[in-house]
Amino acid sequence: MALNTDDKANIRGIWPCIASHAEQYGAEALHRMFLCHPQTKTYFPTFDFHANSAQLKGHGKKVMNALTEVVKHLDHPEASLSHLSDLHAFTLRVDPGNFALLSKNILVVVAVHHSDKLDCDTHEALDKFLNVVSGVLTSKYR
Ligand code: HEM
Repeated sequence: MALNTDDKANIRGIWPCIASHAEQYGAEALHRMFLCHPQTKTYFPTFDFHANSAQLKGHGKKVMNALTEVVKHLDHPEASLSHLSDLHAFTLRVDPGNFALLSKNILVVVAVHHSDKLDCDTHEALDKFLNVVSGVLTSKYR
């Protein structure tokens, strides 16, 4: 489902709170994903999965910064994700079902840290945003 004007405003409203903690929130989201869905670990054979490991922080920061780039171009989400679509589909061959798992855990981390800002409309907008990103990242499989 495409983002409407209100969704975009809500995403832009909360995102600075997320972007300023990219490394921490990214690491926490990945840690939760690996804990709750251990099958996702298979894509990271050499990772240290302990909470706050240097690899979790490094990779978490990359993931969240990539999302920040998309937030800067909400009218054209495909543009900033083109390289990542190719990488995940052709090189990493991540099963499309895994994107919903990471998205869910990103949303949980945002809820843990910003329950005051995550009203129903913002929750819905972030959910749609992560769905849009997942849709673009898995579009090359078809
Ligand atoms: C919101 C969805 C996602 C975003 C925004 C995202 C973003 C990224 C970024 C920015 C990189 C680094 C690319 C580079 O270094 O050039 C990356 C690499 C990678 N991603 Fe994703 N990703 C997502 C979902 C997933 C999922 C669901 C999996 C698997 C469960 C996954 C597995 C990987 C792996 C294995 C790498 C390479 C890690 C390494 O060895 O450096 N990604 N991703």
